[in-house]
Amino acid sequence: MDIVEKTRRLKKYEASEAVAFRSEGSPGMDFLSPFGPLIGRTRISVDLIDHLNAVSDSVLTPGQGAEFELSEPDCSWGGEDSLQSCVARAIRTYVECVEHEPSGLVQLDNFWVVSQFAGTPSPVHFHSGDLSGVLYLKVPAISPDEEQRNYIAGRQAGYINFLIGGKQRFARSLISFKPVIGDLYIFPGWLLHGAEPFRGTGERRSLAFNARVE
Ligand SMILES: [Fe+2]
Repeated sequence: MDIVEKTRRLKKYEASEAVAFRSEGSPGMDFLSPFGPLIGRTRISVDLIDHLNAVSDSVLTPGQGAEFELSEPDCSWGGEDSLQSCVARAIRTYVECVEHEPSGLVQLDNFWVVSQFAGTPSPVHFHSGDLSGVLYLKVPAISPDEEQRNYIAGRQAGYINFLIGGKQRFARSLISFKPVIGDLYIFPGWLLHGAEPFRGTGERRSLAFNARVE
């Protein structure tokens, strides 16, 4: 392997020098958080969200949680602005930014919709693909009391929780994001994540997928 190829192969493991946050204390300090998996977040258009909700409404029974796979025509509806195309572009952006080089093959597996109501958990799990993602189509009204109440170490009701490495002193090992309609998260398929059951009204409707990336 020549030096150019070797450098290229190692480059994708090189972290960023970006400052995560700053302390104005004495002394002031820059904090870098260079290691670990990266989670990408982008936005999906209202038109596409509306289409995916209309499709889901035609499949789901109101008030009943369920899970179903989207058909190929539904995934490709909208041409360049379809779910397939938007997700493929987001994955290419993710790979290019994380690995410092464009991705070759991006193969999207199935897309599935998960509809949940109060009290339903999504136990911590990982996915089978190289990269996975979740897109929020509907979010419940979580009661403010519930939102204040922590379950364990900051995992919050109805939020998506990403976890890594257990408790390690002086390291960050979990993060919770409040679901927002139209937010699309891309993350390594091996990264553990789950959602605590929420108390409140309405539906938590998300769409998930796996992708093989080379
Ligand atoms: Fe998942």
